[in-house]
Amino acid sequence: MRKHEVVVVGAGLAGQRAALAAVEAGCDVAIVSKLHPLRSHSGAAQGGINAAVGAEDSVDTHTYDTVKGSDYLGDQDAIEFFCRAAGPTVVEMEHFGTIFSRAPDGSLARRAFGGAGFPRTIYAADRTGLALLQGLWERLGTERFTLYEEWELTRVVARDGRVQGVIALDRRRGEFEGIAAKAVVLATGPAGRIYGRTTNAHSCTGDGLAAAYAAGAFLKDMEFVQFHPTALLESGILITEGARGEGGYLRNATGDRFMSKYAPHVLELASRDVVSRAIVTEVSEGRGFPGPYGGYVHLELMHLGREKVESRLQEICDYCRHFAGIDPVTEAIPVYPAQHYMMGGIGTNIHGATNVAGLFAAGEAACVSIHGANRLGGNSLLETLVFGKEAGIAAAAAARSASAPELGTAEVEAATAPFRSWSSRSDGEDPSLLRTEMQQTMDRYVGIYRTENDLLEGLKRIRALQKRFERVRVVDRAKVYNLNLTDAIETGHMLDLAEVIVVGAYARLESRGAHWRVDYPKRDDAHWMRHTLAQRGPEGPTLSYAGVAYTRWEPKERVY
Ligand code: FUM
Repeated sequence: MRKHEVVVVGAGLAGQRAALAAVEAGCDVAIVSKLHPLRSHSGAAQGGINAAVGAEDSVDTHTYDTVKGSDYLGDQDAIEFFCRAAGPTVVEMEHFGTIFSRAPDGSLARRAFGGAGFPRTIYAADRTGLALLQGLWERLGTERFTLYEEWELTRVVARDGRVQGVIALDRRRGEFEGIAAKAVVLATGPAGRIYGRTTNAHSCTGDGLAAAYAAGAFLKDMEFVQFHPTALLESGILITEGARGEGGYLRNATGDRFMSKYAPHVLELASRDVVSRAIVTEVSEGRGFPGPYGGYVHLELMHLGREKVESRLQEICDYCRHFAGIDPVTEAIPVYPAQHYMMGGIGTNIHGATNVAGLFAAGEAACVSIHGANRLGGNSLLETLVFGKEAGIAAAAAARSASAPELGTAEVEAATAPFRSWSSRSDGEDPSLLRTEMQQTMDRYVGIYRTENDLLEGLKRIRALQKRFERVRVVDRAKVYNLNLTDAIETGHMLDLAEVIVVGAYARLESRGAHWRVDYPKRDDAHWMRHTLAQRGPEGPTLSYAGVAYTRWEPKERVY
């Protein structure tokens, strides 16, 4: 059996940062990743990373903006820790080799982002995630750890509340393999492919969340799903908030800069939940542009001029030209909101520790919780690095004091027998159809505006899909890169997570941040100022609730 002290699952920014910390602590580290590390979804992050640097900004202002952005559901002690770490983290990444964009005086260039009281988003044009990923990858150095590349997580193995390792599918050989570990860090990134209309890559299937949930970890605040206001029509490709930060306007079909109605002080730079709801309202009330894929609004950059658009938003120019056949220098961009981020995730403390001993999580897969009910743009890249490092340090410490893990071949065989049985069926359900129906269900019933009836219908449909999944069939018998098999594994993961999202959303009888209940349109601090915890039970998720940590900011109405 393969064995390492610390196994990190996921090789995006959070996973690499965790691995670096554990390597520097002297541990024998392995990274398990279903993609080449530089293909991780962190590389898709465009607009920037938040840090209060420079005399005019402050850690306190960043902290307050994040608390307010979270609609007061973020834990304030964790947010303070996070914002304090921001400046040193950016400087460290620069020392690791990340080339950030510069202001004319040579200092770090910063742009405005939604919900921020100060332009504090540091960037590398509109390829910030990729720039960070490359710097970190070089720093990590491939000779210092073992890389299991193209290995897909299928199980976290825990016994008596303690982690023993993981089981993964080596896609190149088509074999399920166990890796025993004293500590495991899950940094598997987003789960956005639960939805059909999403900015997330096809790889974002929530494998770490599903495996942690199956192993007894709590999933926290999963009903809070972020929709990014500006995804390119049809493809759902992200059009960075940096486009509005650079001065872009949103207009409806009557030519109105409609954000003045919804956020009179900051217009297009309100927080994402506010802007997304505004766009959906404009379209549903008949002021959108009609289109074959539904209504949409325009994002205009034309007034910014060619030089600015082509230098600061290079990738956006490419995407618009190649995927929509329009030139953003001279034409408006057709946009509509798409799922972008999960505020919820595997519940952890600020050191990445979960309720399962030896199991840690970081990055989007985790919920610390600093984003509460709504994340601010630019805080996600920061989260991967701050909490990736914390999780790596804590995992290394846990590994030092842990006894040898127990994971045998028989256990791996037993745990993976169901997967193998899928290809011996003579008839059954096609996983790709189940996945499509799940995505359509989540888009239609568990979107930006939610109602009791819709959520009940959504839950009924997701549970019917889970039932059908019991008869899933893999028709492709190939061993090498069997995408039919990985599709089935991922669909099973996502159906479990979809159920948790809907159950949490149905239970939460208020509107807060990204969770908007049309039938309960007010925030209800008296009853719902609390985190949702979901644990796997025999009949599906069992919910319990936990308090929110306050330090300095009393909840008040959130106005932009
Ligand atoms: O709009 C963006 O560039 C996305 C940034 C983020 O999600 O933090």
